[in-house]
Amino acid sequence: MADALGRPRPTPQQRAVIESPLTPALVVAGAGSGKTETMASRVVWLLANGMVRPDGILGLTFTRKAAGELSVRINDRIRALEDVGLLAAGDAFEAPTVSTLHAFANSVFRENALLVGRDGESQVLTEPSAWQLARRFVVAARDDRLSGLD
Ligand SMILES: Nc1ncnc2c1ncn2[C@@H]1O[C@H](COP(=O)(O)OP(=O)(O)O)[C@@H](O)[C@H]1O
Ligand SMILES: [Mg+2]
Repeated sequence: MADALGRPRPTPQQRAVIESPLTPALVVAGAGSGKTETMASRVVWLLANGMVRPDGILGLTFTRKAAGELSVRINDRIRALEDVGLLAAGDAFEAPTVSTLHAFANSVFRENALLVGRDGESQVLTEPSAWQLARRFVVAARDDRLSGLD
């Protein structure tokens, strides 16, 4: 597939990850060692071999920058595979989901808020905002049980 796309071939280690079976796996590697590249190739390999559908893929990262990078690399490669005829042209609505952990958790909450009696328009607080909110309530509280605490 790399040859067909005119891309550098994966190293043997990358190839082992890209072609590993559909079972849980942990891959640990240093900065700049080719992790994002491997993840993008893994996704594309699974798609091209019909092992998963695009909407069965979820890519989560810690930062927006990493999510953006992974998303671009996956989508560029899907398009390239479609161009060389290795992948049936897909439906844009079936694209893989790639986002940060926070954004994904927020969307799961919004989609299911009514089931747990919450307003779907709510925002999930970041950790600093949660601490600020908790502090505001505690400082304003007149509950004697709190008075002994610093
Ligand atoms: N097998 C490979 N052959 C050639 N270049 C590669 C290979 N794997 C990764 N690269 C390149 O190495 C650089 C770092 O890869 P990247 O996936 O961003 O690393 P990481 O996510 O681990 O920081 C990128 O420019 C990428 O295109
Ligand atoms: Mg990376």
